[in-house]
Amino acid sequence: MANNNESIHGAWRNRWTFILAATGSAVGLGNIWKFPYITGEYGGGAFVLVYLMCIALVGIPVMMAEVAMGRRGRQSPINSMKALVSEAKAGPGWKLIGWMGALAGFLILSFYSVVAGWSLSYVLKLATGTFSEVDQALAGAEFEGLLGDPGTLMIWHTLFMILTVGVVIRGVNKGIESTISVLMPLLFVLLVVLIGYGASKGDIMSAVHFMFDADFSKLTKEAVLVALGHSFFTLSLGMGAIMAYGSYMPRNASISSTVFTVAGLDTLVALLAGLAIFPIVFANGLEPSAGPGLMFVTLPFTFGQMPGGQFFGALFFILVAFAAWSSAISLIEPATAWVVERFKISRAKACSIIGVIIWMLGIGSVLSFNDWSEFHLLPGKTIFDSFDFITANIMLPLGGLLIALFVGFGMKYHHAYNEMNMKNAGLFNLWYVVLRFLTPIAIAIVFINGLLPECSFDSELLNAETGECGNSTFLMPRFIGGVVLAIAYIAIIAMSLKKTSRGLSS
Ligand code: PHE
Repeated sequence: MANNNESIHGAWRNRWTFILAATGSAVGLGNIWKFPYITGEYGGGAFVLVYLMCIALVGIPVMMAEVAMGRRGRQSPINSMKALVSEAKAGPGWKLIGWMGALAGFLILSFYSVVAGWSLSYVLKLATGTFSEVDQALAGAEFEGLLGDPGTLMIWHTLFMILTVGVVIRGVNKGIESTISVLMPLLFVLLVVLIGYGASKGDIMSAVHFMFDADFSKLTKEAVLVALGHSFFTLSLGMGAIMAYGSYMPRNASISSTVFTVAGLDTLVALLAGLAIFPIVFANGLEPSAGPGLMFVTLPFTFGQMPGGQFFGALFFILVAFAAWSSAISLIEPATAWVVERFKISRAKACSIIGVIIWMLGIGSVLSFNDWSEFHLLPGKTIFDSFDFITANIMLPLGGLLIALFVGFGMKYHHAYNEMNMKNAGLFNLWYVVLRFLTPIAIAIVFINGLLPECSFDSELLNAETGECGNSTFLMPRFIGGVVLAIAYIAIIAMSLKKTSRGLSS
């Protein structure tokens, strides 16, 4: 175990740099683009409440575990897992955490980059005054026009991938500190300005009621699954991003206070984004459930009405693109670090190869909005929707479940205790109990509920009178749920088979 050494990939200068980098990873499209639109789709208040509970009871404990695992392993997540498994003499199945995480990173970045590309293209549109004085219908048409044009989408997706690979090649610890410490606060200020505008010109009270009045009759099982999945997505958990960043963290820094800071900032940005968007939605009779286009229609329309909107609008989308970029870096880092370690090739080569594969996968998402919009990977879901669904709602929570179980049961108690280095033993034990029991049980319940019941994903098949699924062909969600549970089951059996020889796992 390379406990006291630095990772070969570099190190953060201090605790503050880690906070900045982890916040850069956490705050991204998930907060500004995805949180408002899923809140709109799943009915508001009750969904927000469940999401906040997931952050507190599942996200924060798992994030602490992930950072601790990274710092103890000091390598790419895949190799850190190998080292931790061999240190704990645990079963080899736990290594799935590293592999599944790297795969999730590929899939997420492939569609993430496409959406980040939309933000880049909006910088140009706003700067050139495309939205001056337009009404919402035109703002909507502009967005539809972009989605319908695969060539343009490809250009922006390509540019975003180049920007991402460009930084990762140089090592993630270089330059991230100064960039994030300037741009994050600026994003924050701009969101507050937008909320101020919404308070004076929009319908802020309706927005507040929508986001914070919990009406549980609107809460579906799928909504709970999406809230859980999003708590992982938004905190960058369950796929190794935070583990990779943890591996560059100095030994003496406190994990718990760092994690609370990152999770707090991330949640704050999401809520602010909601409060910036919904006043406009309600004041203009738009649909909260408009879907992925919500931010790209409401905000440009607002900037079009606002004095100085051309400048502020362009600046806003630049900041969104930067937030996406600092998240994308952490999505590609785990796989890059592993390829460098495994094949002993340069970062530049490793990252370029991975970047090209992800870029190619992204073409599927680009075409999901136009030429291939009829092609469904999961029932009713395009490639874009399917990648989003599989990663956020299945792979990340499953990764989080395994991380919680590994630190709770696979790792030795005193290793976890030493790594967390908490001053208060009572607090440590509280975290440990939550991680061992509460977190895994909560994830398991949400999984089984959200994946198994028929019709959750396709309400057309639901018989409104009986509440039953009237179509026996609708087996896909059950099938996926079954596969996921089977994989989890096999993994847990594999893990519990203690190894006899230490050498096998490394
Ligand atoms: N947390 C990022 C966001 O909210 C996305 C992300 C997910 C980044 C998983 C890394 C790992 O935009």
